[in-house]
Amino acid sequence: MNDRTQAMIFRILGILWATGLLGLWAESPRPARSSLQIAREATKELLDSLKTHLVQELQAGGPAKAIEVCSSLGQKIPQTLMSRYGILIKRTSLKVRNPRNAPTPDEKALLQTLETLAKKDSAPDEWVDTVTLQGRPVFRYAKPLYVQGLCLVCHGPTETLSPEVRKILDENYPQDRARGYHVGDFRGMVIVKIPLQEQGGEP
Ligand code: HEC
Repeated sequence: MNDRTQAMIFRILGILWATGLLGLWAESPRPARSSLQIAREATKELLDSLKTHLVQELQAGGPAKAIEVCSSLGQKIPQTLMSRYGILIKRTSLKVRNPRNAPTPDEKALLQTLETLAKKDSAPDEWVDTVTLQGRPVFRYAKPLYVQGLCLVCHGPTETLSPEVRKILDENYPQDRARGYHVGDFRGMVIVKIPLQEQGGEP
């Protein structure tokens, strides 16, 4: 084998290697990446718009009006995002206020994992994985939520809630478990689920 033939073989091997790698690169992370972009976008929109309305209402209408906004928008915004993006998105928690936000078994397990990590101060800013649900691969994205000072108006210990807030919550959420929190506590998560095609193609 002369030098030129050898150089040619190396080049061909090099090209195969590179295209192999590129092929892999193009095939596998791409669906996850675009699902990830969608999930991030929808999560940001949900949290930003809830927060904006919450702050506005707390200032303008007081806690009573803000609870009303939380109740209606808490359900309405995820629904709008679900139909716009064709994904499942919701806020959920190990201690829910509205039973409609209760976690499914896979969400509950993830909440427990995130809570354990949060207690050790090592929860990630976001969680991404793929799970099999009812025999189908599903991309999952979760954003852990923590209690801030602002949240205590409605999620703090019962004895610290204003009588007005307590009354409205008691009336509207007889099964409310979302009280007793302190600043920095793990409150729950936003979870996005996107079914993946069997071959790992675009959802
Ligand atoms: C003005 C009162 C109010 C404030 C302030 C408030 N919430 Fe809530 N929160 C509610 C109500 C009411 C619900 C139930 C919404 C529904 O019916 O879906 C709720 C529901 C939730 C849920 C969904 C799970 C569940 O328990 O049903 C999460 C997560 C949550 N709140 C987190 C927060 C965080 C984090 C903050 C602070 C940034 C916050 N909330 C501030 C009133 C409030």
